[in-house]
Amino acid sequence: MENSSLLELKNVSVSFYTPLGEVKAVNDISYKLEKSSVLGIVGESGSGKSVSAYSIMGLIDNPGKIKSGEILFEGRDLLKISEEEKRNLRGDQISMIFQDPMTSLNPVYTVGDQIFEALATHHRTTKKASINRIVELLDLVGINEPRKRIKQYPHELSGGMRQRIMIAMALAGDPKVLIADEPTTALDVTIQAQILELIKDIQKKIQMAVILITHDFGIVADLADDIIVMYGGSIIESGSVYNIFDNPKHPYTKGLLKSLPRVDIKQDKLIPIEGTPIDLLNMRDGCPFSSRCEECLKVCIDNKPNVTSFENTHKVSCWLYR
Ligand SMILES: Nc1ncnc2c1ncn2[C@@H]1O[C@H](COP(=O)(O)OP(=O)(O)OP(=O)(O)O)[C@@H](O)[C@H]1O
Ligand SMILES: [Mg+2]
Repeated sequence: MENSSLLELKNVSVSFYTPLGEVKAVNDISYKLEKSSVLGIVGESGSGKSVSAYSIMGLIDNPGKIKSGEILFEGRDLLKISEEEKRNLRGDQISMIFQDPMTSLNPVYTVGDQIFEALATHHRTTKKASINRIVELLDLVGINEPRKRIKQYPHELSGGMRQRIMIAMALAGDPKVLIADEPTTALDVTIQAQILELIKDIQKKIQMAVILITHDFGIVADLADDIIVMYGGSIIESGSVYNIFDNPKHPYTKGLLKSLPRVDIKQDKLIPIEGTPIDLLNMRDGCPFSSRCEECLKVCIDNKPNVTSFENTHKVSCWLYR
């Protein structure tokens, strides 16, 4: 069982070295993504969700640096393999969709050309030979009249359709892992629901694993098998959906769930809990949540809590359980 994870992060830390000092964006995080499963990463703005995803994709650039850790994909450390191997893996076996589909699509190329580009980076192919595959991909993401769409430009499509195109491009290389970073925040509510439904359907159909990054606990409740809760660059709690929703342990997770929007009132963001987010520049060694925590103990301020495990899958970093 130990070695069966598709993707595993071990003690990964990422910092940005800014003129003001070291911003510790991701602090010693570890987690596993199992084959064909959906992992939800939840946390408020600035908690390190995107930076942790970028580190998997090799997208951490100056002034950022992966300081330590291992990122194992099928047992191989992505931080140690050659550039060529990296290019083959990232974008192909592991691909990512981003928040805003308009900025990631090139306005001067047709939809067909862009999907062809995505295909051609993975497999040497001619345009003619790949038309069928492009149509198949557009079908998969629920775009009707795909042969007509191929000839259109991004501005001729709605936001929801553009996000579908982005998903089609991300699927072009038949990835084993799809990272979706807030894939619906730029879309209106009904379209959001459709895109999430689509990701769920595709995940089931082609049995890929998905890392779904979101502010929205409601979204992960629907889609995820497992959940990671991040705060201030650390994973403060993780477990199955049932662990987290039925039996939250960390005061931060409990606060988030308490503030969960009611289903009868549409709110797409979490209601913020009391207090100011921590300053990643001047972080102390203790629990990142200590300054906002209503149950804060003396020990929490300067000592990083160890991980306590409950029923195998459920883990929490909190001194209350020591
Ligand atoms: N290029 C950069 N230079 C300096 N700091 C950065 C850089 N990129 C990210 N950070 C910092 O890293 C921290 C984590 O950012 P990240 O984008 O991962 O947050 P997030 O959880 O994805 O938030 P959001 O929900 O708003 O997308 C933030 O404090 C951010 O300011
Ligand atoms: Mg982000």
